[in-house]
Parts: sequence; structure tokens; C-alpha cells
Amino acid sequence: MTVLVTGGAGYIGIGTCAQLVESGRRVRVLDSLLHGQRGLADELVASGVELQVGDVRDPAARAAALDGVDAVVHLAAIVGDPACARDPQHSHDVNVEGSRALIADAAAAGVARFVFASTCSNYGRMADPTVPITEDGELAPVSLYAEQKVGVEQLLLAGAHGMTATCLRFATIYGVAPRMRFDLTVNEFTRDLWAGRHLEVFGEQFWRPYVHVRDAGRAVRAVLDQPVGVVGGQVFNVGRTDENYRKLDIVEAVAKAVPDASVSYVARNEDPRDYKVSFEKIAEVLGFTTTSTVPDGIAEVIAGLEARRFGDPFAAVHRN
Ligand SMILES: NC(=O)c1ccc[n+]([C@@H]2O[C@H](COP(=O)([O-])OP(=O)(O)OC[C@H]3O[C@@H](n4cnc5c(N)ncnc54)[C@H](O)[C@@H]3O)[C@@H](O)[C@H]2O)c1
Repeated sequence: MTVLVTGGAGYIGIGTCAQLVESGRRVRVLDSLLHGQRGLADELVASGVELQVGDVRDPAARAAALDGVDAVVHLAAIVGDPACARDPQHSHDVNVEGSRALIADAAAAGVARFVFASTCSNYGRMADPTVPITEDGELAPVSLYAEQKVGVEQLLLAGAHGMTATCLRFATIYGVAPRMRFDLTVNEFTRDLWAGRHLEVFGEQFWRPYVHVRDAGRAVRAVLDQPVGVVGGQVFNVGRTDENYRKLDIVEAVAKAVPDASVSYVARNEDPRDYKVSFEKIAEVLGFTTTSTVPDGIAEVIAGLEARRFGDPFAAVHRN
């Protein structure tokens, strides 16, 4: 099987490619290297991945990337609420129009399977965040980023393209990866407190689920390992039900590992996402279980910081 991974040089993408190569699949990446990942791209090639540097918005790049492909894993995106809000037109062009075009071209090229990286952010602000929401629960996106993800999900699940489509709603990712992101809650809080910075936290009572970056890649592989009848037209939340935390819990977990943590809680009308998610379906249907917990991830990030693995952890390349 040949798999095209768009965004394969990203935070989730590199580990996903490693999983797919390890499983014996041929892997091709289409990535514009938006965050300057040239060195990482070279490492991808050395690991046996075929790399095409290009943009999902470019018809010629899509055609070349889709040639001879059996499955597409679509990760390429402008990722996160702040990045999308900063340039709404650009994020629309990539996340909505680029995805639409890729879906149409993949179907026309005879691709059998399409896996889409969606997000638990689609649940937005839940009326009752104490009861974990399942895949058929109400979507209430509160950001442009999540609205764009919901739109692409709807297109894929409507099924007119004729491919076996699967939407993976990832929990918020954490953990160490070759393309390190420090703009994600667990990684960011850990870096800031480790560096002795004062951390100002808003919305500390809000719930959210978290999943390790390695487990995200394992979930993609788990979907592709299944027969089409099991995963076609399906949505799976990716994570573990025990791994829903309030921001307050994350702060406390980091503070346990970092002595003298300095934290204050402030009121701010920003990022009202509040959702607790059920991950029973992916466990029951795919037999998928995660391998890491948030405290494991905090320890791993601290070890990476201590070992100076990331250069300057505050550098702009580490955030979207
Ligand atoms: N990180 C999370 O917490 C999280 C949670 C839920 C869903 N997701 C989704 O998972 C996917 C991967 O996210 P990530 O955290 O690895 O982010 P990332 O920014 O590290 O990866 C995105 C990749 O897409 C590439 N890219 C951007 N625009 C492109 C374009 N026009 N053409 C080709 N490539 C382009 C970037 O170079 C990058 O390698 C995204 O679709 C994201 O929405 C991420």
C-alpha cells in the first residue's frame, strides 16, 4: 500500500510517517515546510519516505502527489485557533478549499481510503462538560479553525466522493516530537514553568482531553490496518477517557515536577472551549489504547528541555 501523508513533516506527521513505514507501507509526503522544517524533511527522506515539497492548494502538486496512491492521510493545515484567526483567508484557502480539492482529486485518481485529521475542538463549549461526549454528540465549534474542520468532516461523511473516509478527532496533542510545538497547553506550561517564568492561566476550570503525539500516529495506523467496512464513513475521537483534564490539573501536574512554579489565575474572555470527551468507540471498534499519560508527557518534555534538545524552546519555529 502506498500512502500519501499531507503535512507529513509536521508535529504529528513525522511520527505518523514512522508508524506507516514501520508497518511496511510506502509513504509519500506532500508538505510545504511552512515552519522551515528543511532539516527534518531530510531526516524523513533518510527514513525511507518519499518527499514532495509542495502546497495542497497547487493542482500540479496534488496530481503528482496522488499518483499511484492507495490511501491519503490528510494532516496538512493551518493549525490552531490563533494561527487561523491571524489570517482567516489563508486558513480558509488551505483548510477548506485545499481539503476540498484534495478530496476531489483523490477520488478522481482512484484513491480507496481517505483519513482526515480533525479535532475534538469541534465539540467547542459543551452545555454539560461533566459528561464525556461521544462522536455523535452535538458539535459546537467556537473558533474559525474548528468551523473549518467541521465543514470538511461534513463533506467527507456525506460520501459523494466514493472513498472510504474516516475522520479522526484528535484530543489536544502533547509530548516530544522531531517538529516540536510549544504552543500546545501541556508542552507550553511545562516549558514556561521549567524555565522559571511566571505562568498566567485563564479558563483554569475548563475541561479538555489530551493525547500523546506518538499515540496520534498510532491511531492513524490503526485505522489503515482495519478493513474498509469497519472504518468507512466513521468518526473516531482519538485519546483516552481518563485523560480529560482541567487546565488547573495540568498546572498542578507540572508543578509537581517543577519546584517553585509561579502561577496565577486570571479571568479572560478568550478560548471558551470546555469539553470532556469519550474515547470508548476507538477502544471498542479498533482495539486502540493509548501508551502515554499527561504526567508521562510532562516528564518527557522536561527531560528534553534538560538535555537542550530543542535549541531555544521559545523560538518562533516551535509555535504555529
Ligand atoms: N496538534 C494538535 O493538538 C492537533 C489536535 C487536533 C487535530 N490536529 C490536526 O492534526 C494535523 C497536524 O497538526 P500538527 O499539530 O502536526 O501541526 P503542524 O503545523 O506541525 O503540521 C501541519 C503541517 O502541514 C504543513 N502545511 C501547512 N500548510 C500547508 C500547505 N498549504 N500545503 C502543504 N503542507 C502544508 C506544515 O508545513 C506542517 O508540516 C492538522 O490537520 C491539525 O489540525 C492537531
